[in-house]
This record gives sequence, structure tokens and C-alpha cells, in this order.
Amino acid sequence: MGPGPGDSARQSVLWNGFANMASLAGHAVTIIRGEGAWVYDTAGRPYLDALASLWYCNVGHGRRELADAAAEQMRQLAAYQVFEPFSNPPAEELARRVADLSPVPGAKVFFTPGGGSDAVDTAAKLARAYWRAVGRPGKQITIARSHAYHGMNAYGTSLGGIPANTDTYLPLVSLVEHVAWDNPEALDKTIEQLGADRVAAFFCEPVIGAGGVYPPPEGYLASVREICRRRDVLFIADEVITGFGRTGAWFASGRFSLDPDMMTTAKGLSSGYAPIGAVIVGERVAEPFWRAGSGEVFRHGYTYSGHPTSCAVALANLDLVERERLVARVAELEPVLASAVAPLAGHPLVADVRAGTGLLAAVEIAEDARAADPGLAPRLVTAIRERGVITRLLRGTSLQISPPFVITESEIGKIAEAFAGALDAAG
Ligand SMILES: Cc1ncc(COP(=O)(O)O)c(C=O)c1O
Repeated sequence: MGPGPGDSARQSVLWNGFANMASLAGHAVTIIRGEGAWVYDTAGRPYLDALASLWYCNVGHGRRELADAAAEQMRQLAAYQVFEPFSNPPAEELARRVADLSPVPGAKVFFTPGGGSDAVDTAAKLARAYWRAVGRPGKQITIARSHAYHGMNAYGTSLGGIPANTDTYLPLVSLVEHVAWDNPEALDKTIEQLGADRVAAFFCEPVIGAGGVYPPPEGYLASVREICRRRDVLFIADEVITGFGRTGAWFASGRFSLDPDMMTTAKGLSSGYAPIGAVIVGERVAEPFWRAGSGEVFRHGYTYSGHPTSCAVALANLDLVERERLVARVAELEPVLASAVAPLAGHPLVADVRAGTGLLAAVEIAEDARAADPGLAPRLVTAIRERGVITRLLRGTSLQISPPFVITESEIGKIAEAFAGALDAAG
């Protein structure tokens, strides 16, 4: 007979994302419960979740209202498709709510089931479908930035600007180009070289997230927005991390006056209580498909697009965010987080501390220290966890801080303390 569920020798067959399974065996950190900004492992050990899981658990863990919303919707209608003529009340209500919250006039909302990667692939396809629909089918190239992360589906992997994530899979989706993350002139020149009549869209995270938390250089976003407008290239704001409050505004596109043609969102839409994403589509892109009498069809959709249970959970999540004024809270906590982590910049192992845009920060480990000791940065992640705080390494260089919006000022202080303690202990 094989080993039973209680057998401690039983080997895990769970294949983790972004993990070396050869060394993970027997060392998994198994999280079984969460409450506010805290999660607990099988031994009952508490960890302050400095990540909000993967940038998504904005309302904090353990919110019963969201479980209740899911249960109530499941009893009524757990799931039904929204292909062709079908609709359901939570999907309709959520689409309206998201459109009204977004800084995109006349927005239409296309739901994706898996989260941000599906939203990115949807937006990339819709950009090409749009240009074809308006009689300019040559506009097919999409441009993205170095350090960019746009998810792990085929288009998103191709648009990504983190070589470690893409090199294995080359060649990727064709007609994708990259420019330096911080250089508007590079974008302008690239469009000119390619020919604006071949370029469909520019993908831009308002604050680069998984690439290392890079807030936009002064004036960068206004410049690239202007270039896209002048060159007639669609501007797609990837707000999978920044959407729904993380920068202290409902959307970074609002905070930075981006007026995007499309926004990709996910994570904070439901705080991760159910998987769901949304592409928020501006009037210009929607028009050829929605205009009275048009025969255009966006031949795209997912089995679980507009999933009623996910939509009901997202609605309850947005209720919580509004009722508890959590977006304003992020704006209030922005300087608290920035000043808590600022002193880490003085540590000899630290090259840079990036913060100051909402509840997003990163501590970059010095390149010479990483080169001299390649195990240093991963060991810091473990050492910080041993001090009771969960962080992770971004692009092999920087430690992520993106806590739930419900975190307290003293909990922010604990994150900085754990980072400082682990850095001191490492040298
Ligand atoms: C900016 C951005 N776009 C897309 C994605 C992909 O989202 P998901 O992992 O939910 O598919 C992410 C995930 O972190 C992201 O940060």
C-alpha cells in the first residue's frame, strides 16, 4: 500500500512556479491560514506578509465577507459562460463598477479568468484586432520595456524584459520589440525605425513591479504617452499590480494622468480571493466593435471569463476597499513605508532602496556583494523569513515589499527591522 495522507515521508508532487524542485523537496513553507497582514505555517508560526502574497492581497487575509460572497453566489449560480449572448448579474455589475472607477472615459470591460497574464494576452490581441478593424492591418508590432513583467502566457513572456524568464523559450511570439525602461527617446527612435505604420501598441507598467520595483523616472510617463499619441501607437498601461489602489490612487493611470487606450488589471480586483482579471478598454479601441451596425467580432474569450463567483467576490472586495477607505490609506502609508526603509540604503550590502509610490518598495542588494557571493541574496530572503517576515527576490537583485493595505505603521516598522537584522547578520 502507498503512503497515507498522514505519512510524513510522503513526497510532495506539487511543482512550484519559479522553483528549483531538486532543492525544494522537503523545504516547502506550507501556509495554512491568514489574518490581516499575517499568514501562518503548519507549525502555527506567524509571518508578516510583506508581499501581500504576489502583490494581490490588498484587503488582507481572512476576510469572511469575501468567503460569504463566494458561497452566496455559488448557491445561486456558481458559474456560467459569457460567450456570445450570455451574461450574468455579477459580471454586468462588476463591469459597470470597474468602468466607473477607472480613469478611462466610456470604458468597456473584458474579463479574464486567470489574472494578469490573460489580460495582457487579451490586450495584445485586441490591439492588433483594432488596427485590422480600422483598416490598418500592418500595425502589428508591440513594444515593451527592459525589466518589464507582463505575465507568463505566450504574449506576456515575449513582452517581458527579464532575460532569465524568456531566454529558455526563444524564439518567442514574433513582432515584439524592446526598449530601455527609462528612455523615452529610445521608444521614439524605435517606432521611427520600425515605421509607425507597423507598430500597434506600447505596453507600459506605470511602476515596474516584478522587474525590481522601479517608479517612473521624472517626466518619463508623460513623454512616452505623448510619443504614443504623436506616432498613433496605442498606449496600454499594465496595471496588474498598480490597479485598484496600490499606488494610493484607484489606478496609477489616474495618478500619472496617462489617459491609456487600454489598461490590464487583475490581482487587486479581487485581492486574490478568486482569480479574475480585466482589460479596461477605452472608447477609441472599443468603437469599431461596438458601433451600431458593425460586423466586427473580437474572436477571443476564455471559458471562465465573467465567472459569476469570481465577479461576486471582486464586487465584495471593492465594497471593502471603499468602506474601509483603503486607497486613501495607501496614500497615507506611502511616506511611512518610504521613511521606514530609507535607512537600509546606508547598509554596505545595499545598493539602492526604491520606494515612494504607494505601498511598493524594493531593497537592491549591491552588485559586488552578489558577485562575490551568489548565494547572498537568496540567503537574505530566508534570513528575513526566519525573522518572521516574508519577502522574495526580484530579478535576482532586489527584495520586494508590497504589503496588504491593512498593514499598520508598527507592522511596517517590523518589516524594516527584519530586513536590517538580516542584512547586519549577513555582514
Ligand atoms: C505587471 C504585471 N502584468 C502581468 C502579470 C501576470 O499576472 P498573473 O500572474 O496573474 O497572470 C503580473 C504578475 O505579477 C504583473 O506584475
